Amino acid sequence: MKPHCLQTTEKFPQIEIKRLWVICELEFASHSFWLLVFRYLPLGKVTNDFMNQKEYIEKNKDRFLDELVEWLKIPSVSADSKHKEDVKKAAEFARQSLLKAGVDNAEICETAGHPIVYGEKLIDSSLPTVLVYGHYDVQPPDPLDLWNSPPFEPMIKDGKIYARGSSDDKGQVYMHVKALETMVNTNTLTCNIKFMIEGEEEVGSDNLGIFVSENKEKLKADVILISDTSIINNETPSITAGLRGLSYMEVEVVGPNRDLHSGVYGGAVNNPLNVLCEMIAKLKDEDGKITIPGFYDKVQELTKEERELMAKQPFDIHDYKSDLGVEDVFGEKGYSTIERTGIRPTLDVNGIWGGYIGEGAKTVLPSKASAKISMRLVPNQDTDEIADLFSNHFKSLAPKSVKVKVTKHHGGQPVVTDIYSSAFLAASEAFKEAWGKEPIPTREGGSIPIVALFREKLGLDSVLLGFGLDSDALHSPNEHYGLFNFYKGIETISLFYKYFKG
Ligand code: BES
Ligand code: MN
Ligand code: MN
Repeated sequence: MKPHCLQTTEKFPQIEIKRLWVICELEFASHSFWLLVFRYLPLGKVTNDFMNQKEYIEKNKDRFLDELVEWLKIPSVSADSKHKEDVKKAAEFARQSLLKAGVDNAEICETAGHPIVYGEKLIDSSLPTVLVYGHYDVQPPDPLDLWNSPPFEPMIKDGKIYARGSSDDKGQVYMHVKALETMVNTNTLTCNIKFMIEGEEEVGSDNLGIFVSENKEKLKADVILISDTSIINNETPSITAGLRGLSYMEVEVVGPNRDLHSGVYGGAVNNPLNVLCEMIAKLKDEDGKITIPGFYDKVQELTKEERELMAKQPFDIHDYKSDLGVEDVFGEKGYSTIERTGIRPTLDVNGIWGGYIGEGAKTVLPSKASAKISMRLVPNQDTDEIADLFSNHFKSLAPKSVKVKVTKHHGGQPVVTDIYSSAFLAASEAFKEAWGKEPIPTREGGSIPIVALFREKLGLDSVLLGFGLDSDALHSPNEHYGLFNFYKGIETISLFYKYFKG
């Protein structure tokens, strides 16, 4: 018998102790007996009561946070090649953390890009296996001058930890590492666990796709558990049941063969920057509808009942506007704000450049202009199809006086998860126990492209058990993560395993 297969009886520690001693007697001379002694002696648990998960988290909370702070200090910016070594350092930190938390082995898996950290604790092949996915890479911290404290010098203020990656996603990944530690040290681990923590999520997960295809056996599991999303608010827990997909395009409009004097040529030669703006303006009409032919053809409409259910979700438009400092919201006519981000596709310019942007004024008619444009997709739109539709339409908008180049960047398919799966229900139970409230299923506007790939390549569903808040300033200056969310997340994740029976 393996000592770590003991079933927990947190509320009746005396039974647990009794069972432990029976096993001890039986196994006194065996190898596993000594493993057991080794496991519990340092914690003084052979004779003491078993601490329950909540007590364990409470007792170790300061250390948990200190450790996270150390990880957040490493600037693992995947998009920036000058941080390649930092990314590597952050991967090694993750590997060491997993080992300290109690995995049997953890390795760094090299890829053509940034490494993937893999670790596992396999306790019993008859028990279900959970594959935890997350990312240790972070978005670039720019613009630096808008941070109130440096992005890689974590600062704890008003119950929040401020640092790049605190919510997206190191802080959320670390909850899983500490949940594992908690379960191991309270003897409450009832599943096998595998960890796959990547370093390229923020740049499209291209190499993770390859890793997954090549390691199907290694990654065999019953479900994938991910904390890289948000809850409605700290009084209203929720589980994300859908994410939007993404098509990300770059366009270039080229006019004359060189920059021109805007007085000498202005008015006679078409200005690529003007043309680009006009073309972009044509992509949406005044009702916020995207004008690309065929764009909405495959969009899954929700039923009246589904939309009514969504409308019940607590949402305060005044808070929303005042949090963002806007007088009004905007979006597709006929849909609410929650629907506009959850169940409707959209198109946005993410960046636009060309011409003179230095100090003062330079009179110039630029020879070219560019923009980065993202489209968020919903079921059953397809990222490649939409990219093609965009590309054809955008080119068709160009006047003869310019040439247009369209390039596709990374993308991903939209996902909807099964809210009746045993894993989703286990997550619901975990929330009910930890938060005293039933979580609401939500659809979120962000994308985690690899989720659709997990289903396609591994045949596995994901449970999106995130604990962030929309107001955490993801990808923005002053990103932060609530300490309440961090600790409550550890508690909820630890309970998930209790309820997940495969
Ligand atoms: N964690 C986010 C996605 C997210 C955030 C989902 C909030 C739901 C709520 C993830 O790290 C992310 O930023 N994804 C990118 C896509 C990627 C291809 C760069 C995104 O959504 O822009
Ligand atoms: Mn993320
Ligand atoms: Mn992100």
